[in-house]
Amino acid sequence: MPATVIVGVQWGDEGKAKVLDALAEEYDIIVRYQGGSNAGHTVVVGSERYAFHLVPSGILRHGKVCVIANGVVVEPALLVSEIEDLRARGVRIDGGNLLLSARVHLVMPYHRVLDKAQELRKGGGKIGTTGRGIGPCYADKAARWGIRAVDLMRPASFREKVRSRLEDLNPVLEKIYGIEAMKWEEVAEEVLAAGEKLKPFIADTASYLRKALDGGRRLLLEGAQGTLLDVDFGTYPYVTSSNSAACGASAGTGIPPRRLSEVLGVAKAYTTRVGAGPFPTEILDGDGDELRKKGGEYGTTTGRPRRCGWFDAVSCRYAVETSGVDCLAITKLDVLTGRNPVKICTAYRCEGRRIETMPADLESLTACEPEYEEMAGWETPLGGCRRREHLPAEAQAYVRRIEQLLGVPVRLISVGSGRDDTIRCGI
Ligand code: IMP
Repeated sequence: MPATVIVGVQWGDEGKAKVLDALAEEYDIIVRYQGGSNAGHTVVVGSERYAFHLVPSGILRHGKVCVIANGVVVEPALLVSEIEDLRARGVRIDGGNLLLSARVHLVMPYHRVLDKAQELRKGGGKIGTTGRGIGPCYADKAARWGIRAVDLMRPASFREKVRSRLEDLNPVLEKIYGIEAMKWEEVAEEVLAAGEKLKPFIADTASYLRKALDGGRRLLLEGAQGTLLDVDFGTYPYVTSSNSAACGASAGTGIPPRRLSEVLGVAKAYTTRVGAGPFPTEILDGDGDELRKKGGEYGTTTGRPRRCGWFDAVSCRYAVETSGVDCLAITKLDVLTGRNPVKICTAYRCEGRRIETMPADLESLTACEPEYEEMAGWETPLGGCRRREHLPAEAQAYVRRIEQLLGVPVRLISVGSGRDDTIRCGI
């Protein structure tokens, strides 16, 4: 039975939620495998707009089970408020349709404090994180200081873990960052109070998912961020702290790699990035501002304006190869309407050489100049298009060129924010 992975092939914000929502009908279980509340997904249903950070957006579909798997990091109070907000809007959420892995690591109040303090200390060299405590939480996980959802079940040992962590961390907060020490009792009680409300959702999701596959159920696995923000394969250190590439789907869920059947990559028809780090095709003049305005390119989580640029086939091809993408969804093609010409970066000029791959070395990548291919633009709005052949010839040529450059077929094209503004390409 299929276990399909949906993964971004840029720096996040590719519109994965829209694609996921379009495909969710064909699956039984929707699984989030990494990241945390740094991610923000918006889904528009009719006149309703839903913003998701931790709960998989599949929750809006009747009869689906949503799973927050072990690779995700969860801030209990935030998850509780997301669940309560959705319930207040009439969405059914209970232990029958939302499962939280007992193994997820908890984003603790001190992780947020540390995230902000570290960024401040880095000054001009800061990463531009979302400030949600994601990096420090994954760092604690790797350093074996982490506190997991399962620990909420044993308050006494939970308190002891918080005490021990803060005993070690407080001198760092005070001496290095000049921040007041945090009282472990207060931190522990605050998190336990929120955690109490999460208990009905906590489960061994890895074994649940494996059994579900054995039983013939169809799984859709959702990565947050994008492949170029992956901690191993992205533009390190300007990355997030988890494996957002498809490789994270196995470790982040407990589904053995050979049971993952397909990878669907999601790319925006142009490129955006939030936070610092190299971005070869960034448009720094008014054209970039126009793209931002037309595409509504402001972060769902932080509201920060996104940096905007042309489609970068070099970094996307690298991401397609890294994540083993089988087919592609292209989003926001409608935003390019009215631009003439449209440009695609097909190679970089780097320190006197022409290259078609992404260098690992940050300094080389920062020095890369894009080589563009120009294509004719189109004027006709795409909103009403429901088949690929309904698109203006120039838009069809643009999509075809992306297929050629990335070496994968396009299965889905999004031409607007509504659920119906989607073209299925029937491959
Ligand atoms: P962090 O994940 O908050 O530690 O941020 C690390 C980098 O990843 C920063 O450049 C963020 O802007 C970026 N980032 C994190 N989450 C997202 C997302 O959902 N979309 C786009 N960028 C993100």
